[in-house]
Parts: sequence; structure tokens; C-alpha cells
Amino acid sequence: MPGTICVGTQWGDEGKGKITDLTAGGMDMVVRYQGGNNAGHTVVTEDQQLRLHHIPSGILYPHITCVIGNGMVINPQVLLEEISALESKGISTEGLRISSNAHLIMPYHLILDQAAELRLGESRIGTTHKGIGPAYSDKASRVGIRVQDLLDMKIFRTKVEQVLKDKNAILTKVYGLQPLKSEDIIVQAEENAEKLRKYITDTSLLINQALDQGKNVFFEGAQGTFLDLDHGTYPFVTSSSPIAGGACVGAGVSPLRINRVLGVAKAYVTRVGSGPFPTEQENEIGEQMCELGREYGTTTGRKRRCGWFDSVMLRYAVRINGVTGLALTKLDVLSQLDPLRICTGYEYEGKAYTDFPPHQTIFHKCHPAYEELEGWKEDISNIRRFEELPQAAKRYVRRIEEIASVSVEIISVGPRRSQTIATKR
Ligand code: GDP
Ligand code: IMO
Ligand code: MG
Repeated sequence: MPGTICVGTQWGDEGKGKITDLTAGGMDMVVRYQGGNNAGHTVVTEDQQLRLHHIPSGILYPHITCVIGNGMVINPQVLLEEISALESKGISTEGLRISSNAHLIMPYHLILDQAAELRLGESRIGTTHKGIGPAYSDKASRVGIRVQDLLDMKIFRTKVEQVLKDKNAILTKVYGLQPLKSEDIIVQAEENAEKLRKYITDTSLLINQALDQGKNVFFEGAQGTFLDLDHGTYPFVTSSSPIAGGACVGAGVSPLRINRVLGVAKAYVTRVGSGPFPTEQENEIGEQMCELGREYGTTTGRKRRCGWFDSVMLRYAVRINGVTGLALTKLDVLSQLDPLRICTGYEYEGKAYTDFPPHQTIFHKCHPAYEELEGWKEDISNIRRFEELPQAAKRYVRRIEEIASVSVEIISVGPRRSQTIATKR
């Protein structure tokens, strides 16, 4: 099984970190292909909890090469802090490799991200303020600064001095903020470059060599299908391509090298930030989901919005990503809720939609149609075999499989590695 992509099927925070860590044991390489430190991936083993932002969730296994791919945007300062936090816990980062083609999140990106959000007011996206949008915008505008520029300070200086003219004009004239000094940026970058130098390489070559040798490579998505720049709920999305197709671009591999796409879906739905959310429960049910599921952002600490499972969204995600199997997470969180609901379609202006609607207004204003299912009211967090789940929990899982026409390969019933049911049925 050479190339596996792991992709979020909702609005992020589906539990990709847990599923990656769980699966990584049998892998040789784990690759992040997009996003930056807007991601927050939690890994909980029997004795420790890690929150990863740039670094792939395979880092706990010493035999694995962990790759920060060309499609990522990197905040060098934050990455170095992440590396030293891991090292101080005794977790080696020797196997980490960073693509020389990845782009850098620069100090002005952070300021511009916040300033733009402030300017949008009520219409804000609710970004993580990590500079993601501005960094990807510069990449597309061809004024981005790349990881490899850190290896030649002469080039780095020329590029920073050039781009800073425009950035300072925007900071001062558009937003009325203080300009940045190129010298401050360069001094800091020189310091970071020395520390990062040993990790930087052509990661596409590395990944393809591993695949040529028949090694198992796992591509770990960040964010989720509905935060995808093209296929998500634009403009309330991130600025990269979290979908499976993004893995080929963001890692430098051919689509022919991929033979498995593992979709990660939470047993209910959450969202951080603004934007439409048809099954959102702004009531006691949503509060219960939030408290029982500890739904607070890993990166920003913000409370996540919660709602019922949406199978229209899942079917769309299965289609867009070519999902071959599902990991269904946080099933344990639903144990206290009865009855349960699954959204099977939307209704808008007298018309029924069972496929994702072609216009955002419909998704924004539609009423979800629900199917009601019996709850199980029983703790399932210690169950390790599908057969031992309560009948109602089995029915819930089977119904999701039926509606989405895809099998659930992994059921997660708690944050720890061991709290997992592999479903071979
Ligand atoms: P990611 O961004 O997709 O990696 O997800 P996050 O790590 O941001 O959020 C998922 C949260 O749920 C983390 O705190 C995990 O430790 C936790 N988690 C993952 N799987 C389960 C599960 O099956 N049950 C429960 N109760 N928590 C889980
Ligand atoms: P993981 O990898 C959930 C959301 C933000 C905001 C929108 C744009 O942990 O699943 P950005 O800072 O990317 O420009 O913000 O995307 N967002 C996430 N929501 N999980 C994430 O990552 C997210 N990364 C970004 O809340 O709505
Ligand atoms: Mg997260």
C-alpha cells in the first residue's frame, strides 16, 4: 500500500492527528502537503499529549521520516519552537525534512491577516491570525519568499527589501500601521536559517525515492474538504487545497502513486470561525456536544460550533476526494445523546437537495432534513471490537456507510491510540 492520503471530510478538527498517529506505526514516511500552523493536530498516546502545528503527526515514531512538503507555508520561528518543545520531551526530530520550495510566513503576513480581519468586521472569516491567507496570496502573486531563500542570505535580503516596499505602503497607507524594518527581518531570518539548514532538502525527490523502493508513504491533510479554497464554503475557507488532489501538488508526487484515500469524519460536525453550517445546533444539544467532545480549538482555543452529522457533506467529500474508506471519530461523544439525528438532505424554497447545492445561498439558508436514530446511552470508550458496540451504535455507523456508499474502516471511541476499533466486517 504505497501512497495513502488522509483527508478531513468536514471543516477540520475531525481527528486527523489521532488517525495519522495511529496509522503511522505501519508507515515509513508521513508528509504534510498544505496549510501551516493554522493546523492543530492532537496526538494522545497512553502517557502523553502532543499538539502539532507544522510537524506531521508521525513524529512519535523514531523510524519515520516526517516531511513538511512544498505546499506548506512555514513560520520559521514557530516551527523552531515546535521542534524544541518536542526535543525537550525526548522526541527526536532527526527524521524531519523540510521542502526547499515551501513558502515562508513572514512578519508582515501576520500583521496583514489581523488587519484584514479587523477591517472586515462582522463579515470576517474568523481566521487563525497565523498569516496563512497573505502568505499563500504572495505565493500566487509570485512575490513569496521560500525556505530555500534562507540558504542564501543575499537573495533573501534582495527579495525582502523589494517586497517590503509594497508591504510597508499597505501597512502605513491602507491600515495606518507602523512600517517594518528589513534589517530586523533579516537578522531574525539569519538566526533561524542556521537552525533549520540541516532539515532543508528536495522533499519531492525523497518521497518519490521512498515510493520507488516500495515504502509506505502517508500524506496527512490539514483543515478539511469544506475549508478547501476551491471546493469549500468560499470565502469562509482557508487559502490552500486540503483535498486529496492537493496532496500531489503539495508533495510533488503523481496521482498514480496514490492507492488509498482515508477520509476522516467526526460522528457529528464542528466548525471554527465564520460561515454557513446547516446542521449547527445553537442550543443545549450543541452545548452538550461541545462539552462532551471538548470542542475547543487546538490552535486558537476558540469554542467550536457543533451540529448534527451531515451526510450531504460527507457524500460530497467522498466524491471530491475519492475516499476509499472512512475513519469515524468521536463516536463516544454521542453516547449521552438520544435520539440522534443525521441530515440526509436540504430544503430551500420548496426544492429538495440531496447533493451539495450549486449556490452558496442555498447552503446558507437551507433547512436540513433529518433522519432520527435511537441513541445508546452507554459508555463505549472501552469497547475495542465492533461486535461489542451497542446495537444502536452499530446502526448509526452502518447508516452512515449506507448513505455515503463507503465503508468505515476505523471507529475512534476516545482520544488515546488504544481507544480504537478496527472494523473488518
Ligand atoms: P485534527 O485537527 O483533525 O487533528 O483534530 P484536533 O486534534 O484539532 O481535534 C480533535 C480532538 O478530539 C483532539 O482533542 C483529540 O484528542 C480528540 N479526539 C480524537 N479522536 C477522539 C475520539 O474518538 N473521541 C474523543 N472523545 N476525542 C477524540
Ligand atoms: P486542522 O488541521 C479547523 C479555519 C479558521 C477559519 C478559516 C480560515 O486542525 O483541522 P486561516 O487561518 O486558515 O486563514 O482561517 O479556516 N481553520 C481551521 N478550522 N481546523 C483547522 O485545522 C483549521 N485551519 C483553519 O478557523 O475559519
Ligand atoms: Mg485541529
